[in-house]
Amino acid sequence: MKVAGLFAGVGGIELGLEQAGLTTSLLCEIDDRARAVLEHRFAGVRIEPDVRAITRLPRGIDLLTAGFPCQDLSQAGNTRGIFGRRSGLIRAVFQLITASRPPWILLENVPFLLRLDRGRGIAYVTRKLERLGYRWAYRIVNTQAFGIPHRRERVFLLASRTSDPASLLLTQDSLAPDAHAGPDVAHGFYWTEGTRGLGWAVDSVPTIKGGSGIGIPSPPAIWFPDGRFVTPDIRDAERLQGFPANWTRPAEAAGRPAHRWTLVGNAVSVPVARWIGRRLLGGTETKPVLRTVELSRTAPWPRAAFGGPGTRRHAVEIGAFPVSRARRHLHEFLRFDPPPLSHRAADGFQRRLLRSSLSRRTEFEDALAEYVSQRA
Ligand SMILES: C[S@@+](CC[C@H](N)C(=O)[O-])C[C@H]1O[C@@H](n2cnc3c(N)ncnc32)[C@H](O)[C@@H]1O
Repeated sequence: MKVAGLFAGVGGIELGLEQAGLTTSLLCEIDDRARAVLEHRFAGVRIEPDVRAITRLPRGIDLLTAGFPCQDLSQAGNTRGIFGRRSGLIRAVFQLITASRPPWILLENVPFLLRLDRGRGIAYVTRKLERLGYRWAYRIVNTQAFGIPHRRERVFLLASRTSDPASLLLTQDSLAPDAHAGPDVAHGFYWTEGTRGLGWAVDSVPTIKGGSGIGIPSPPAIWFPDGRFVTPDIRDAERLQGFPANWTRPAEAAGRPAHRWTLVGNAVSVPVARWIGRRLLGGTETKPVLRTVELSRTAPWPRAAFGGPGTRRHAVEIGAFPVSRARRHLHEFLRFDPPPLSHRAADGFQRRLLRSSLSRRTEFEDALAEYVSQRA
């Protein structure tokens, strides 16, 4: 199957699909630094800079992918919605779909797409697809399902003009692997937060993000049971997204090294795309979609659903873990020496936390106070 990857970023979707056996034929990405990574990692593949300038897909494309910009849709962003300046680029995707009618489409975005404005974003996407003759299915998938200690939920929508996408996307369901709670595990959190939330994650890092509440790309922090507060090395952040270490290093030739955090935070986790690629190439799944409930037009959008032209929509009771690979401990997963969280960062975080009404664990607060005082 030949893939055209729009909004390709550093190619998380396309790398995963290639690992499954698909071939990348076209990439499109506007950011110079991300494009520097694509040029290096997908040598020989045609790369276009702007989705709005592509009028047709090359001949023979089987799958169009688009992890379209989420800034207007995410809880951490400005919530302008599906027609915001950046997320509104989905319109350019639909112009291309209308012009070229690829057999398959894979879209990816943040789960808030299902809730913002009572799901106006997902309503728009599914309505457009249905009008163009596509059946669609979506579900939320968590990167932790693939054994990686990174809590990251994203919506993946698969649409097809020729087949039933629900039979590929919505027929595998597994239980979340047991969290390794206990005194000897590391915890992840966002040191840039502390007012509205912490992004607290047990034995994993919280969702690695492209931006932060304080306007700079920043890594999450990790609290080790021995009292250390650190941030992961960028190479481990790449691995936490399923990339090989140093995947984004070519970006340094085109911009500041810190921008790699934005690129990694914006990326799609490679193993999720690999799983979808395998489902696509696996061919004819005959298992029925599990636990479906007909969805009324006024019901809130569920975490998984399917529909198509002239058929009723159905919600599907399915979790975010299509598979459940054994999860490695966060401290065992990290391969590179993590730099300590700076004193300034820890101090600022502690002040925000003390002013907030967030519930938190006393051991954590004590360890943080100890860390701040040691380094003062
Ligand atoms: C959510 S990220 C996608 C990440 C990507 N799927 C990955 O795995 O790395 C959205 C991307 O869309 C790119 N973008 C924004 N506007 C664009 C445009 N007009 N044409 C092409 N790419 C654009 C951004 O630079 C960003 O890299």
